[in-house]
Amino acid sequence: MSQRRPFVAGNWKMNGARAQAAALIDGILAGVSALGDAEVAVCPPFILIPLVAEKLRSTRGRVLWGGQNLDTHPSGAYTGEISGPMLRDFDCTYVIVGHSERRSFYGESDAIVAEKFAAAQAAGLVPILCLGETLAEREADETERVVERQLRAVLDRSGVESLARATIAYEPVWAIGTGRTATPQQAQDVHRFIRARLADKSAAVAAGMRLLYGGSVKGANARELFAQPDIDGGLIGGASLQAEEFLAICRAAG
Ligand code: 13P
Repeated sequence: MSQRRPFVAGNWKMNGARAQAAALIDGILAGVSALGDAEVAVCPPFILIPLVAEKLRSTRGRVLWGGQNLDTHPSGAYTGEISGPMLRDFDCTYVIVGHSERRSFYGESDAIVAEKFAAAQAAGLVPILCLGETLAEREADETERVVERQLRAVLDRSGVESLARATIAYEPVWAIGTGRTATPQQAQDVHRFIRARLADKSAAVAAGMRLLYGGSVKGANARELFAQPDIDGGLIGGASLQAEEFLAICRAAG
């Protein structure tokens, strides 16, 4: 029996203005008493974090918040960037690191992602490390090789014990925003593989690691995904922008 507490995080991506963010958080707050047991967090765009933090403070930790990205440096002449200490200053608990959109649109290599992971932990943030293969890589039967390479960059940079203070999200790129969810078995197979690679280094870290699935999760398919033995929750994109849908996913995890 797993001791892992389920975890659902919403990745708002580059969506929302102040009014929509306020309405979305108010919708989540309206359902907070019926959330179930899962830990819940939202990751808004940087500029909306103060507003979201202000509203979520009233939940006294029931709903946490985080960033979607951070710079590798703590401060300095890096125009346009936001650092880990800045996110901590707004009481962020989490920060997403290595999302496939960062890797593909902004050229973040495995090495940069590993640096960002280390920078997040140095600032006292819990990284949500995203791993996942493209459709071409899956069709070439390279899923395990790609995911293992992405994971190894962080293991080599920060060591296996650092993963005890992190979460991993498996997000197959072909399932993100496409409506094409991985089947529960496809997701479970990769989650089991990731946990086994962690277990090669540390049985304790592997057993404690919360492995989230991301990619077209909705209220309607969440329960079946979360029922898999190595799936401990979800990283939710589009469906996290609708309070009712997001709450339904949280309940499915709890
Ligand atoms: P969707 O849920 O919109 O497919 O996005 C998943 C994702 O990328 C979360 O980080």
